[in-house]
Amino acid sequence: METQTSAETYNYRVVRQFAIASLVWGIVGMGLGVFIAAQMFLPQLNFDLPWTSFGRLRPLHTNAVIFAFAGSALFATSYYVVQRTSQSRLISDEAAAFTFWGWQAVIVLVAITLPLGYTTTKEYAEPEWPINILIAVVWLTYAYVFFGTIARRRVKHIYVANWFYGAFIITIAILHVVNNLAIPVGWFESYSIFPGTIDAMVQWWYGHNAVGFYLTAGFLGMMYYFVPKQANRPIYSYRLSIVHFWALIATYVWAGGHHLHYTPLPEWAQTASMIMSLILLAPSWGGMINGIMTLSGAWYKLRTDPILRFLIVAVSFYGMATFEGPLMSIRTVNALSHSTDWTVGHVHSGALGWVAMISFGALYHLFPRLYGLKSMFSIPLINLHFWLATIGVVLYTVSMWINGLLQGLMWRAVNDDGTLTYSFVEAVEASYPGYVVRFIGGAFFLGGVLVMAYNVWRTVGQSETGALDDSTDAVQGANA
Ligand code: HEM
Ligand code: HEM
Repeated sequence: METQTSAETYNYRVVRQFAIASLVWGIVGMGLGVFIAAQMFLPQLNFDLPWTSFGRLRPLHTNAVIFAFAGSALFATSYYVVQRTSQSRLISDEAAAFTFWGWQAVIVLVAITLPLGYTTTKEYAEPEWPINILIAVVWLTYAYVFFGTIARRRVKHIYVANWFYGAFIITIAILHVVNNLAIPVGWFESYSIFPGTIDAMVQWWYGHNAVGFYLTAGFLGMMYYFVPKQANRPIYSYRLSIVHFWALIATYVWAGGHHLHYTPLPEWAQTASMIMSLILLAPSWGGMINGIMTLSGAWYKLRTDPILRFLIVAVSFYGMATFEGPLMSIRTVNALSHSTDWTVGHVHSGALGWVAMISFGALYHLFPRLYGLKSMFSIPLINLHFWLATIGVVLYTVSMWINGLLQGLMWRAVNDDGTLTYSFVEAVEASYPGYVVRFIGGAFFLGGVLVMAYNVWRTVGQSETGALDDSTDAVQGANA
């Protein structure tokens, strides 16, 4: 055992594959984001073709960033973390390889079928039933690899990051299967088994928990491992992390109805979801505080370590998005924000500020270790990426907040005689400057990812063996 390197002890191959895939799909997905952002003020870019129209490319963007970019980052980090904190190799190399190739096949099938117009029309669950079956098979294999590795761990303790990854894996399996129960009427068409309002409620139970467990719990797993690791300090409070875990998962599942305010959903269900959303602020902020306070006594490290900066700014954006979300779930606030760009601003403060930034931090931490190197090829380039990303996300979210308020207020303005003060198209015209600023912000953010890709390419090129890491890198977080 002592003579083995950690690359031999652990399966780093699948981690490397997912890490590179995350970067590649990040460029594709965010490239599409920048393109559809341009379509909003340059409609000529729809090219009058159905498959390049905004309506088809938008779900392609959301699927590419959520499932391909963020999903691959979750696979990569969870496989890495579960091995290191369990001090055990993945239970099956073959099953892990199947999850990689299976997931890439899903992504390619989605990228072909969505632009062709095949869709269930359920947001974030657009792929048709044959792809859904493949997703379920890959996901169950993922669960087998993850929990199988935990079962053969060599330490008694199950580190808290694995609790979050585990909850994410189990919940997504349930949500995916239930929300996609449908009767096929052809290879590319099916009808949901749920009727009308129930279908809407199931969809948003799925949609909100996709946010809660996919875009939140999984990334909290990342936070609980990579923040202490990069800061070289134990997590601020292990006790708080356990309270955080149970409180978060117990509350999230009730909040989906806030996506259906002022709809035929019974009012008591809307109110209940609003109350649960407000309660959700507490565990969310508990988690944020735990992440940020891990740096107490070591704040100076932020001056010199851009990777840590990525991680901590991400956790701060998590705090902002989870303050804003409960606010927007209050019915009277939602009356103003719903269907406006405010929602899009909220989404991207979570998606860019939290999900993407924490993934960048975790991947920068990972790449040198996966390729047996001391550090990334260039630290100044990580710094450049950090600033491009930070400026990008600020431009994106601020422009959308302004647009959202503008739209909400213009839509509801009425004259004394009860007629509308503004026509819809006037509100669209007023939104143009915001759309241009959002495009610029998106281009900054994408530029940062391209800088990262160059840095990773040069880093990987430095590794002659392609994979060896000798470090004895104890599971410091787990021992905290
Ligand atoms: C360069 C970065 C990005 C740009 C420029 C961008 C741009 C856009 C645009 C223009 C839309 C359509 C908004 C509308 O319909 O009015 C959108 C929607 C969306 N994007 Fe992005 N995006 C980026 C990155 C991301 C990332 C990294 C994620 C997730 C991890 C993400 C998740 C979403 C989601 C969930 C929606 C749907 C929002 C909703 O329905 O309210 N985006 N994005
Ligand atoms: C305490 C936590 C949160 C609460 C209570 C919350 C609440 C809300 C509310 C009320 C909406 C608007 C629904 C509507 O008017 O249609 C919304 C939309 C959304 N939020 Fe959050 N949010 C939270 C955190 C987050 C985070 C951290 C992310 C991303 C990582 C996120 C992603 C989204 C997305 C993607 C949508 C758009 C859904 C759609 O397509 O319409 N949320 N959220």
